[in-house]
Amino acid sequence: MNQKRIVLDTDPGIDDSVAILLALASPEVSLEGLSVVHGNSSTAQGTINALSVLELAKANHISVYKGCDLPLVQPSLLAPETHGHTGLGYAKLSAPLSQPKGQKGSDFLIERIMSSPGEITLVAIGPLTNIALAIRQEPRIVENVKEVFIMGGAIRHEGNTTPLAEFNTFVDPHAAHIVFHSGMPITLTPLDVTYQCVFLKDDLNRLLKIDSPITKFIADATRFYMEFHDEYQKIDGCVINDPLTMALTFMPELCDYQDLYVDVDLSGGLSMGKTFADFYRMTKKPANIKVALGVRPRDFMELFLERMVKLAKFIS
Ligand code: BDR
Ligand code: CA
Repeated sequence: MNQKRIVLDTDPGIDDSVAILLALASPEVSLEGLSVVHGNSSTAQGTINALSVLELAKANHISVYKGCDLPLVQPSLLAPETHGHTGLGYAKLSAPLSQPKGQKGSDFLIERIMSSPGEITLVAIGPLTNIALAIRQEPRIVENVKEVFIMGGAIRHEGNTTPLAEFNTFVDPHAAHIVFHSGMPITLTPLDVTYQCVFLKDDLNRLLKIDSPITKFIADATRFYMEFHDEYQKIDGCVINDPLTMALTFMPELCDYQDLYVDVDLSGGLSMGKTFADFYRMTKKPANIKVALGVRPRDFMELFLERMVKLAKFIS
């Protein structure tokens, strides 16, 4: 099988960690390295989380690179109420034995994309700071990356961080602006589709039939995430945004798409960080992003559960 070569930029994060596990459990993709960015927790904490999750899944051969710890312009905004103080909810993983590599996250992205022109699929599931820095530092990555999958934005959906804005685009809207207008071939997974993908207690109970450190981790991490969704959004279960984005890299038919001109508001008012699409072509600007706007949620969830069962049986 011709595996997709994936480089992941992430802010682990409960759903980020589960997206890492999904990549590791999916033979269609090969995870070549992780760059960590601020977001759900600090970059230092997210780096520890990335290393620990890889070790949990016996994948510590995959290198982790520390990226930027601050948004480009905005002050830092972390999300302990959503992901817990460590970023992994109630999960307590052993401190990692491995260390991050010395190279900076954005340098790693540049080096990997430029050394394999047209071959690297970049998946970005946190604020886009590292990607924007990499574009500014080496603009040729725009032509040399194969494709970019981004979890971010809320097109017709309400925001999850402000009434209008989604977390990843709100935390670093200037970075999102650079990336969206870079010319990279982007597929966007906004809240419009991720909020239809709710991981239910019944789904968790199916996983818990297997006694494995993987299922225990998923249970401990998502219990916190479910409590957050119940308390703040009255959702029964939890929305696993980042794994859906990962799944689209190898199963694009889970979603329906529209090519649209998409932008992000930087005006500093109530809609700061809000993403919007020009559905009626009023701006006459060409489409810059392929946006997922429809999804088959249970197909995705069955895929996700099947892959987690497989990984859990392997790691016991
Ligand atoms: C995004 O923000 C974070 O809470 C999640 O990890 C996801 O990437 C959803 O808005
Ligand atoms: Ca994330």
